[in-house]
Amino acid sequence: MPLFRLKDKYVVGVRTMDAERATLLGLMNEFHAATMEGEGQSAVGPLLLRLVTYSRDRSFAGEALMKSLRYPGLAEHQASHRDGRRQIGEHMVRHQQGDRTVAVATLNAMYVWINEHILIEDVKFSQWLKEQGSGESTSAQSPGKRDTPAFARRSPHKPVHDKGKREALFTWSKKYSVGVKAMDEQHTQLMGLTNEFHAAVMTGQPHSAAGPLLRKVLAYVRGHFSAEEALMKAYKFPGLADHQAIHKDLTRQAGEYMARYEKGDQTVYVPLLKALRDAVTGHILVEDMKYVPWMNEHGVR
Ligand SMILES: [Fe+2]
Ligand SMILES: [Fe+2]
Ligand SMILES: [Fe+2]
Repeated sequence: MPLFRLKDKYVVGVRTMDAERATLLGLMNEFHAATMEGEGQSAVGPLLLRLVTYSRDRSFAGEALMKSLRYPGLAEHQASHRDGRRQIGEHMVRHQQGDRTVAVATLNAMYVWINEHILIEDVKFSQWLKEQGSGESTSAQSPGKRDTPAFARRSPHKPVHDKGKREALFTWSKKYSVGVKAMDEQHTQLMGLTNEFHAAVMTGQPHSAAGPLLRKVLAYVRGHFSAEEALMKAYKFPGLADHQAIHKDLTRQAGEYMARYEKGDQTVYVPLLKALRDAVTGHILVEDMKYVPWMNEHGVR
């Protein structure tokens, strides 16, 4: 699940800038994917290096263009670029010092910076370009959309990043359905809680927001496991013992994560998210699916 999608809101209508934006968002998605795959530490160095190089080269190129066009907002824009480069540089230093929380911190910082910079500073520049009637302002968008760009209806000073707009980690779809209404509802709840937890981690509030959320997720998992086992028991599902053993193992893992969290271990969030994601997708799609035919035959809906 990519963190960013190149949506209308990120398209400012200047072809070179939009192409760069696509590259930058792609890089951030790689970063997000590597972090979610638990490769945060090994992947973070090379990715950060690419980010440092890319943002430096592209921001200087953008500034050169603005300078050549005598863009009046140049100084302000430069300050925002400088702030972005400084943040990436700081994360690079933290990484080099062996700070294992840097992958999430970088994602948080870049998420905020990309949204603020693109949706405020870059939009200002593209609007100015349009007013100048410059040939640079050739959009890659469809002709219909070019006439009424989404950003034209938005106040450029309104910060637009917020938790609700963030891509969800999970979206419920039919493939997750086990055909038993109560179980589907609980699985949906679990995905929702995992999404909330993901959003809390990605918005840089792991300890304050994710703490209570984590307790909720883990309590919910326990409740769900007992409900599912009770259902299997009631219908004498032959795979009960195996399924129970898997639940028990997942519960043990959850307990270990909780213990790390309670000790204040700041590196616990990403592996925990990864474990939750794998539990939700892997466990539902593989293990829970095994009881589907049995419940079906027994008329459980
Ligand atoms: Fe810019
Ligand atoms: Fe299960
Ligand atoms: Fe389940």
